[in-house]
Amino acid sequence: MAYLQHYTPDMRFVKYTLCCLFLIAAIKLNAQQLTWSEVEPGIWKAVAGKPEAFDLLKTAGAVPYHAGLVEMGKTSFPLSQADITAKIIDGKTYLSFPLDHTEQLYGFGLNFQTVHQRGKILTLHVDNYAGKDDGHTHCPTPFYVSSKGYGVFINCARYIKVYAGTAVNRDSKTPPKIQDRNVDKDWKSKPYSDNVVMLVPAEGAEIYVFGGPTTMDAVRRYNLLNGGGCLPPRWGLGFTQRMQRLTDATGVAAEAKAFEDKGYPLDFIGLEPGWQSKSYPCTFEWDKTRFAEPKTLVQDMLKKGVRINLWTNPYISPESHIYKQILPYTGNYTVWNGLVPDISMPEARKIFFGELEKDKVDIGVSGYKMDEVDGGDNYLWPDVATFPSGHSAEQMRQTYGLMMQRYVTELYHNRNQRTYGLVRASNGGGAALPYVIYNDYYNHQDFITALINSGFAGVLWTPEVRASKTAEEWLRRFQSNIFSPMAMINAWASGTKPWTFPEVADQIKQLANLRMQMMPYWYSEFAKYHFQGIPPFRAMNLEPGFMGVDVPKDAPKKNINLEENPYEEASQKEIKDQYMAGENLLVAPMFTGQTTRTVILPKGKWYDFYTGKLAGDGEVITVTPGLDKIPVYVKDGGIIPMMPAMLHSPKAGDKVDIEVRYYGDKPGSYRLYDDDGETFNYEKGAYSFREIKVEKLNGKVKGSISNAIAGKPNTIGNVTFKMMTE
Ligand code: GAL
Repeated sequence: MAYLQHYTPDMRFVKYTLCCLFLIAAIKLNAQQLTWSEVEPGIWKAVAGKPEAFDLLKTAGAVPYHAGLVEMGKTSFPLSQADITAKIIDGKTYLSFPLDHTEQLYGFGLNFQTVHQRGKILTLHVDNYAGKDDGHTHCPTPFYVSSKGYGVFINCARYIKVYAGTAVNRDSKTPPKIQDRNVDKDWKSKPYSDNVVMLVPAEGAEIYVFGGPTTMDAVRRYNLLNGGGCLPPRWGLGFTQRMQRLTDATGVAAEAKAFEDKGYPLDFIGLEPGWQSKSYPCTFEWDKTRFAEPKTLVQDMLKKGVRINLWTNPYISPESHIYKQILPYTGNYTVWNGLVPDISMPEARKIFFGELEKDKVDIGVSGYKMDEVDGGDNYLWPDVATFPSGHSAEQMRQTYGLMMQRYVTELYHNRNQRTYGLVRASNGGGAALPYVIYNDYYNHQDFITALINSGFAGVLWTPEVRASKTAEEWLRRFQSNIFSPMAMINAWASGTKPWTFPEVADQIKQLANLRMQMMPYWYSEFAKYHFQGIPPFRAMNLEPGFMGVDVPKDAPKKNINLEENPYEEASQKEIKDQYMAGENLLVAPMFTGQTTRTVILPKGKWYDFYTGKLAGDGEVITVTPGLDKIPVYVKDGGIIPMMPAMLHSPKAGDKVDIEVRYYGDKPGSYRLYDDDGETFNYEKGAYSFREIKVEKLNGKVKGSISNAIAGKPNTIGNVTFKMMTE
């Protein structure tokens, strides 16, 4: 400072000004010029700085489903490009996106307690969910959509910090009103924020923006960028029972027989850690005492129409025969004393997935449940772990679940055989991978909120049933589970069976049968997930008529008359306990202790799923359904294709009769999907959507279905129509 004394005050001012100019220039230099290019119809990408090669989309192996995006047509860039900014400072990327007064935000991964994300501060971090929506979750997809009808995705495999409408920029053009806490009653500790800002801990990132005009359109475009949602095999949509962890071959055969004798449907059985000779860490070898002849068991079960799914985590025991061979391709920290294979390296993949294939996929095992690839920190590798590929511990944490899904799916794809399994971690880019997320958390209400949020995160979630304190809880959990992507009891610890509570065993059987009867509907809805990107299980907020997404943007603002349209008010509320299941169904689960609840019916008439009676018309209804029923409503003109209840899902080539159930008054149409149900031949065009049409004329139903297309698989037998609404 001494030399400053030689300057006159004027010179000091000049020096100070120069310093400031230099700083401003430096910050400007850090500012990135974002150039937006339309990479697919309605999807734009810009690159800030130097993005890392190891990103989410590449790691997931995502290939956009171009035909589906073309079919969606054109739309305009949904935001002001000038209001999206990026800077690279200190080796990190600072991103900012605009937000207006009216917007609500959804997404940022698989949250369990909240649907509205505006006002949240999150660190998107793959983790075991620990009871707080702070970004640490099984699938923290860096993707959000706005009620204004657009979406944003950051293609980066890092722990991204998000301030979703909490930060107030000094230079904002729409700053919050300044208030005096001394006197202003509505002074807020959280002033209005007009931006979503993110800190990406990497020297660059790819940014994707998805156009609307509706929020659903933006979600669809995101899923289609991922390759379209997964299409499970038909059997995946039947019923699955995961057995007690130390069960043996005799136990498996006895379980399948018990299901059959008692008349409960069963498509696949899950074996938990005890199928392996050692677990935690794992050998990936059959335990000879419990499973002397695994091939015979798997094949015998297959003949009975029951498949086997195997639990595993990826942590390799010193007693596994692949231990020595894979050692050079593993991380420098262990998990439960097991090696962590660096599956981002082809060398490790060859050994590791080769092991999952040998004597497992090879002998007819139908899929895997890939456990504990999410966290938590107290057992997983620390953030200082290193991996031989050079990918950081953070990158590995963000992508391990994605990679497990991708490479196991490839084993099956190579055999032209579909799989459907479970995984405890995923991330952006993985919508096409046929896995359902689950966890050890067991709050029924939060399980439903997760199901709602799964539709914003490009993943599937099962509110699995494990054990229950009472028959009522058992039945309530089971009811919502059969209206989910995987109908499953996970009895790994409890050994529970569907008939564990005799007082509700009949109701449980009816529900399991209903799941099977609805297979043509579930399967068609998953086909729409694949070909059109429409999530099969999703929030009410994506439903036209629920939050005004179908109202043209330039429509004059109307004064809401709450008496005439109470739904308008309701849509402002966060809806965490009812959801859409496929095109036509609204599901409103009941929770233990509840005898009555309210259900928000979007605009239009809605009908009771079971009786066909009118339930309400764009209004909030209060229902008391009794213990036996989960409230489910069908849209006006809604069509639900059903099949007879079967103990196992139809095999490729089987013909199945369809009963078309039709609700309400409006003319209805439905696209019924058909293919062989088991292979990937649909990727080469071996599928069809057949058009069902129903009209009600003078109280009579007139229904039709378009002809089967020559040369395409045709599993549809006799088609009958049932008018549910008299
Ligand atoms: C847990 C998993 C359970 C069960 C168990 C077996 O991590 O979430 O569903 O598979 O491991 O040890």
